[in-house]
Amino acid sequence: MANPRPGDVLQLRIDTPAFGGFGVARHEGIVVFVRFAYPGESVLAKVVERKKTLLFAETVEVLEASPNRRKPPCPSYGLCGGCSCQEIDYEAQFALKVEVVEDCMRHIGKIADFPEPELIRADREFGYRNKMELSFGEDDGGIFLGQHIRGRFNKLITAERCLLMPEVGRDIATSVSEAARSAGLEAYNNYRDCGLLRHLTLRFSETDGGVIAGITARSPEIDRIRTLLEPARDRFTELVGSSMVLNERVGDTAKGEVTNLFGRSYIEEEMLGLRFQISLESFFQTNTRMARVFYSKILDFAGEAPNCVAFDLFSGTGTIAQILSRRFAMVVAIENVERAVHDARISAENNDISNVEFIFGSVEKQLAGAIGKYRPELVVLDPPRSGIAKSSLEKIIECRPKAIVYASCNPTTLARDLAMLTESYIISRAAIVDMFPQTYHIESIVRLDGKD
Ligand SMILES: C[S@@+](CC[C@H](N)C(=O)[O-])C[C@H]1O[C@@H](n2cnc3c(N)ncnc32)[C@H](O)[C@@H]1O
Repeated sequence: MANPRPGDVLQLRIDTPAFGGFGVARHEGIVVFVRFAYPGESVLAKVVERKKTLLFAETVEVLEASPNRRKPPCPSYGLCGGCSCQEIDYEAQFALKVEVVEDCMRHIGKIADFPEPELIRADREFGYRNKMELSFGEDDGGIFLGQHIRGRFNKLITAERCLLMPEVGRDIATSVSEAARSAGLEAYNNYRDCGLLRHLTLRFSETDGGVIAGITARSPEIDRIRTLLEPARDRFTELVGSSMVLNERVGDTAKGEVTNLFGRSYIEEEMLGLRFQISLESFFQTNTRMARVFYSKILDFAGEAPNCVAFDLFSGTGTIAQILSRRFAMVVAIENVERAVHDARISAENNDISNVEFIFGSVEKQLAGAIGKYRPELVVLDPPRSGIAKSSLEKIIECRPKAIVYASCNPTTLARDLAMLTESYIISRAAIVDMFPQTYHIESIVRLDGKD
C-alpha cells in the first residue's frame, strides 16, 4: 500500500526493538514503529499516526509469533497504559531492553567502543512498584479507581488490582473506592471542571511494610477526604499515614498543597545501611529492592577519594549523595523539588551525615555556583528522561572532574549526552539494570574517565 494513512492496515515484519515499547518495521522504505510487536514477528498493524518520515501502528493480528510470547498475566494488559511487554516472557523482555540500549549507543551516540555492559536483571516480575498513582473515574457502577486507557486522557479502566503494585495497595485502593461510592462522591471531571476526587497516590515501604496514602482533591473538603481513608486505616495496619493533596486548578495532576490527615506524611526506607525519609511528592526510585542493587552499582562505579569532593546532580531525596558521603570528603547535591531537598536534609541528619551540602534549585542555575565553590573529583548525574541540558554538560566538562558516573532512565538522551562527553572522556564501564519488568523502561549506568 503506497502512502499509508491512519486507519490503514499493513502487513509488517519486525526487525528490531526501539525505546518506548515498539517493534521497528519498514513499509516501502518508511520506518514504522509498531506497538505490541517483537523482532522476528510478522503482524498486521493498523496505522495510528503519521509523521513526516515515519508511521506509528498497533498490532491487530499476529501472523507469525515470537516463540517468547505468553498469555499476559494481567487482564487489563493492552488497554492500560502502564505495561508494554507483558505478552513476552521476562528473559525476552530483558534481552530486548539490552538490545535497545546498545542500539542507541551505536546509532544515536555513534559510540563504537561502548564497553560490554554488566547485565542486572530484576529479581521479581510483579508487585515491585513502591509508588502507585490511580485516578478516580466514573462508570455506570459509580465512582472507581483506575488508570488511563493508553492514549485516552478522559477514559479510565479499573486498576485497583494492578499486578505491579503490592497486594496491600490493591486492598487499600478497593477500600477507598468503596468508601467513595457509598459516600456518593463524584470524580473530578477535567472537561467540566466539576467533581471532587482526582487521584489516590500510594507509597509503600519495602523496609517496614508501611504505606502512606494521599488523595488529591479539587477543593479542601478535609473531613470528607479523611472519611474515605478511615475504613482502610482501621482495617490495614500497614497504612501508617495519609494526606489530602489540594489541587484547585483545572488539569490532571496529582500534585498540590499537602495537608496531613493522620499518621505520618512520609515512609522510611533502608538503603545500604542508611535510612531515608520519603514524602508523597518526593522522587524515589520506584522499585526499592532493585534500587539497592542500582545504588550499589553506582557506588561501585564511583569508587572513592576520601580527600576529594563529589557532586550528585539531580539528587532527589539525596540517596546517592548520602551513600557517597562515606567515600568522599564532601558531597554537593543539587535538586529542584523543595520537598525532596527537605527530606534529604532530614535523612542526612538522622543518618549522622554532615558532609553533604544540599542545594535546592535547578542544575542549570545552581551548577555554576557550586563549581565556583568546589572542584569535584567525581560528578554523578541521574537526570530525568530528558537528560541534562547542554549548557550544564559543558560546565561539567569545563571543570574537568576525573570521572563522571551517568545514571539514566532514557537510553536515547543518554546516548546523545555521551556523544558530547566522549569528546573529552572515555567510557570505561557500563551496566544495564532492569528495575521495571513488564514495561519498556530500563536504567543504564556508565562510568567515564578523563582522557588525559
Ligand atoms: C531520575 S530522578 C533521580 C533522583 C535521585 N538521583 C535518586 O536516585 O533518587 C531525577 C531527579 O531530578 C530532579 N530534577 C529534574 N529536573 C531537574 C533540574 N533541572 N534541576 C535539578 N533537579 C531536577 C527531579 O525532581 C528528580 O528528583
